Amino acid sequence: GQPHLADLVVFGGTGDLSMRKLIPALYHADRDGRLAPQTRVIAMSRGGLTDDDFRGKVDAEVRGQVPIDDPEMWQRFLGRLHHVSVDVGSDDKSGWDGLAKLLAGHEERDRVYYLASPPRTFGPFCRELQGAGLVTPHSRVVLEKPLGNDLRSAQAINDEVGAIFDEHQIFRIDHYLGKETVQNLLVLRFANAFLEPIWNSLWIDHVQITVAETVGTPGRRGYYDHAGALRDMVQNHLLQLLTLTAMEAPARNDREAVRDEKVKVLQALRPIIGGEVGRFTVRGQYTEAGDMPGYLDEPGSTPPTEASRQVETFTAIRAEIKNWRWAGVPFYLRTGKRMPYRRSEIVVQFKDVPHSIFPGGSPNRLILRLQPEEGIELHIMAKEPGAGETTLRPVPLSLSFGETFTARVPEAYERLLTDVLAGNPTLFMRRDEVEAAWRWIDPILEAWKADPALPEPYAAGTTGPAAAHELLSRSGRAWHDQE
Ligand code: BG6
Repeated sequence: GQPHLADLVVFGGTGDLSMRKLIPALYHADRDGRLAPQTRVIAMSRGGLTDDDFRGKVDAEVRGQVPIDDPEMWQRFLGRLHHVSVDVGSDDKSGWDGLAKLLAGHEERDRVYYLASPPRTFGPFCRELQGAGLVTPHSRVVLEKPLGNDLRSAQAINDEVGAIFDEHQIFRIDHYLGKETVQNLLVLRFANAFLEPIWNSLWIDHVQITVAETVGTPGRRGYYDHAGALRDMVQNHLLQLLTLTAMEAPARNDREAVRDEKVKVLQALRPIIGGEVGRFTVRGQYTEAGDMPGYLDEPGSTPPTEASRQVETFTAIRAEIKNWRWAGVPFYLRTGKRMPYRRSEIVVQFKDVPHSIFPGGSPNRLILRLQPEEGIELHIMAKEPGAGETTLRPVPLSLSFGETFTARVPEAYERLLTDVLAGNPTLFMRRDEVEAAWRWIDPILEAWKADPALPEPYAAGTTGPAAAHELLSRSGRAWHDQE
């Protein structure tokens, strides 16, 4: 259909996320004709910039990140941009007046308030918006992660925002849900007949979900010390991947049906409590190796504290889903900074054939690769050519998205922003989902906090501490990249 006419207001509009992801995504959307001609983008920050200053900043910082085939189009895009200065929580309300003036007379437009600012500002922002009379029935609010740092704080934020916006107006972002392969996971599972009959504990031995990053955390200590890999990655991205892998088929591809099934998976996660935390979870922190500094020596504005020593930059967890389909199938989750490669994948390891008539051979495996190259690989057994004895070898049936589809693969944020502007919340997290995820994470955080031991060190550029390998090897399994 026609793109909705909207005003998009971005709090934290001159910040890192905005300049690296949101503005480039909006430009791409514009270039593809997915923004209505009058749509405006209003950045808010403390910066004291004029519209022209902000356009100049975007011209300087974003131009190099996006393909500009038509300079006139780029100028038209810049013309959509505005800036309003605001100081949240201060007595100076002039910024809100400025925003109100800009929005006045456009009440019929959709309004999207995108909060790309720290979560403690979510409640205050929403109250200021309401105080200034800026919340219309056509308004929506987008919340960036992290949504709190435990269940209680997440509930508090949800209550504060929920006091002003209805749940159907609230869009909680998890950018992994905007990734092409993640959406493809549902198509692969529910638009093909051959997988679903074997997608259960009768046929599947275990599942591995890995999000490995090579980057460290330079300049992020202020945030990361109080987040760590469990809050930063597992509570949201990895658990979302787990729900999409494990969920039952929804009756319809619609917002509530899909999210109803996802939340059931989270609610079925077997809690890991007390003494079990030591057995089923691993935490690590990278140390200096070669020219890579350790976590504690990363350059940053603040020196390391006790919190820095305790924070995990790597974690591995053995999760279980207690329902009919998945009983007894471990889901191994793993993520870390400063690993040897950047790779996100879901590995579904099938069981061995019931009775083998050939020597050798190994069980089938399906790999869904999210990054760097998006693709799907099914490892099947084949016979090595040759006249002698039958020798088996696993060979991949492989689909590369890049080679099969030549269209540009949009960035996660492009898809998500387009959905917000169209008012489609399917790829956003509902309140009960976020809270169910925290409910499972909280006891792990508590047990770690009570444990006097520090995270196990691993050298930067390696696949994490030895305990991460033992988590699998003690049941005769191995991480896909460790065989
Ligand atoms: C973010 C985390 O949500 O996801 C970062 O805060 C992490 O720590 C990033 O680096 C990873 O996203 P992607 O899309 O690069 O896999």
